[in-house]
Amino acid sequence: MDARIEQAKQVMAAGLPGMFIAFEGPDGSGKSTQFRRFAALAREAGVTVCEVREPGGTPIGEQIRHVLLDRQNEVMCVRCEMLLYMASRAQLVEQTIRPALAAGQLVLADRFVASTLVYQGAAGGMGQDEIAAVAAVATGGLEPDLNVVFDVDTETASGRLSPLLDRMEAKGRAFHEKVRAGYQGLVRSRPDRYVSIDASRDPEEVWKSCLETMVGRISRK
Ligand code: TMP
Repeated sequence: MDARIEQAKQVMAAGLPGMFIAFEGPDGSGKSTQFRRFAALAREAGVTVCEVREPGGTPIGEQIRHVLLDRQNEVMCVRCEMLLYMASRAQLVEQTIRPALAAGQLVLADRFVASTLVYQGAAGGMGQDEIAAVAAVATGGLEPDLNVVFDVDTETASGRLSPLLDRMEAKGRAFHEKVRAGYQGLVRSRPDRYVSIDASRDPEEVWKSCLETMVGRISRK
């Protein structure tokens, strides 16, 4: 793996500055672990990395995150939910993402618009076109160059979650099956912007395939 890591770092150093990459997947996919690993390797390669997470990532966004994930807000309707995710995103794009891209940094996002298309759209029942229209307003049309989707079956994913589920995690199996299917649909319909990684295996195996896949995509850029 060592020679491969060195080769990966060279590709990363050349290709990642100014790129915008989102890590996506169902709850329990292990994406955040892979996210941290990828960010660390990019830094080792000499790339300046701007890490953001959604919902949140800014002081205003973190307050919105609290409202969204609070289990006391069970009555929140899907349109309110969608708009709050987008409000958090609008602030993040303006305050953090655009300035970082303008400075030639790599922006790594733990979730972005794809999460809304899948959680509030495919699983929550809102139309993809409606969500895309609001996303265009919230982001000013900014899209990740690449969405890396960590695909995992619902059984394996739920076994990885802590027993203290937040409001979204507590939505039940049928909802999370639709989340997974929603991601798979996006990967099929936008192969230029989405890539899927089998995340049901152990973290080391997932990391190897994540790195290989991403290096392939970065060098094609
Ligand atoms: P996290 O657990 O990855 O931090 O994400 C928080 C939860 O919010 C997770 O269950 C996915 C959900 N979510 C949406 O439903 N819509 C969105 O647009 C985003 C960004 C997250």
